[in-house]
Amino acid sequence: MIDFHSHILPNVDDGSKSYEETIQLLKEAKNAGFDKIISTSHYAQDCFEVPEYKRNGVIDELNEEENLPQIFLGSEIFLTFNILELLHEYKASTINKTNYILFELPLRHQFINLKTVLNKLKEENYRLILAHPERYSVVQKDFKFLYELQEMGVLFQSNYASILGVYGLSAKLTVKKMLKNHLVSFLGTDVHRANSIYPKVPLAIEKISKIISNEELEDLTTNNANKVLNNEDIN
Ligand SMILES: [Fe+2]
Repeated sequence: MIDFHSHILPNVDDGSKSYEETIQLLKEAKNAGFDKIISTSHYAQDCFEVPEYKRNGVIDELNEEENLPQIFLGSEIFLTFNILELLHEYKASTINKTNYILFELPLRHQFINLKTVLNKLKEENYRLILAHPERYSVVQKDFKFLYELQEMGVLFQSNYASILGVYGLSAKLTVKKMLKNHLVSFLGTDVHRANSIYPKVPLAIEKISKIISNEELEDLTTNNANKVLNNEDIN
């Protein structure tokens, strides 16, 4: 399996706080069944701004450790109007140097002129993936917003632990509805701390497998992420 969303790199954002914690996380990931992890450290202006070359250095070092999952470059980019600049200047990263980007929005309020920014990204051939839609209040209310984004070609990544109620009841009900309506393309842990999400992944998968087919589960946990890593189209 491929973990599509993680804050596994040490001292880059609000995720892992040390190299040791990162090693612990990688061991937990392996136990949960992951052999690849996309490191989607936050890139948020004025808050988390570790540029690509620095993160790449840490990833190279970690990938030399034996018998642990392989780590890939990525970012979880907090959407701002200058996102193209951040990408052009190799501050924020696409996933594994492909055209795919993972972005997040404010959890509780609307992003003004969202479509204008997304269209600008699309004009430059970026392919867009929204992180954990089930956590946004606008999505929890109804799916109009999701369908509008889907119409624009945006794909959706949900968090494993949402189905367990880790982010509240609304997120749990919303992810269930998203899965039932085949709106999820990728699953990720969004892990920040050791001994938190990874041990919960098997139970989350058990619950998710009651909603979607084994074939679709394989797509969400592995196949679609592999396509992204290779810059291939999803469906
Ligand atoms: Fe995240």
